Amino acid sequence: MPITRTTTALGPRPTLSAGLDRFRDDVLHGLSAARKAIPCKYLYDDRGSRLFDRICELDEYYLTRTELAILSRRAGEMAEAIGPDCELVELGSGSAVKTRLLLEQLHEPRAYIPVDISPDPLHRSAAELGAMFPALEIIPVCDDFTGAFDLPESGTPPASRRVVYFPGSTIGNFQPLAALRLLTSIARLVGPGGGLLIGFDLDKDESIVRPAYNDRLGISAAFNLNLLARINRELGADFDLGAFEHRASYLRRQERVELGLVSRIDQVVGVAGREFRFAPGELIHTEDSYKYTREHFARLTARAGFALEAEWTDEREYFCVQLLTVE
Ligand code: AVI
Repeated sequence: MPITRTTTALGPRPTLSAGLDRFRDDVLHGLSAARKAIPCKYLYDDRGSRLFDRICELDEYYLTRTELAILSRRAGEMAEAIGPDCELVELGSGSAVKTRLLLEQLHEPRAYIPVDISPDPLHRSAAELGAMFPALEIIPVCDDFTGAFDLPESGTPPASRRVVYFPGSTIGNFQPLAALRLLTSIARLVGPGGGLLIGFDLDKDESIVRPAYNDRLGISAAFNLNLLARINRELGADFDLGAFEHRASYLRRQERVELGLVSRIDQVVGVAGREFRFAPGELIHTEDSYKYTREHFARLTARAGFALEAEWTDEREYFCVQLLTVE
């Protein structure tokens, strides 16, 4: 049985004011660009995270449901392919449900190390999983996994291999170069023989993808527009939410859904003491969601140093989970 050890939190917690300065700088920089854009990480304040949870339950949003179905049916095979005595590192502490399905099947995992920049969800999901797996060593690390970060020393005896778990198609929200950078740093983190269990959304017909980002209840629109409400509240801006509309277009040749907020009118908006002009129809880019072909994903992961070890998908081939290994 794995040894029980007291949970330790590692890593820097950004101070509130440093986080706010960064947010202001990123927004001002993004709105000053010729093509206005705001980094998608700012979509996830408290309300944004709650809205995203509702998106995951929408009829139109097939991603979460499909990945969960793959996991419920095939987690045993995934555990078999990963092998015994691994150390599981999860990037983002998102859904305790997916992690539970995997942990239930893993053979004698040495430790589970969730890494997340937001302390509250990190500690909440670590506590939830701790209650479900009392014998498992859980070491939450509060850090930004998109930058350089350290992991705690593994216990004794050493784990057979380190495996990063990165579900949810979060890789799809990274621009290709940033995705390559992240995958390369994961390869370095797990080392030769180490693994990456990753979920990504597959390229498919527009009639399926489009509604997932343009749902009938308007939750995706509320999620996107909440970014302006957040900027108003935290940076002292005066965006009129009614003067912008949600847009999500599937640019299939580019394998991505482009999300943005479109100005309905000619307007000037004050943000943190500066003024920004918006022409009618002008877009603030807020997020990309890449839908990969297997070939494209194979090229990307090979460039980062990974080889495909095993793959699981659903009957309709909407979503894919792959176990990749560093050669
Ligand atoms: C988190 N990520 C995988 C979601 C996606 O589908 O790209 C974010 C999202 N944005 C709007 N709806 C969902």
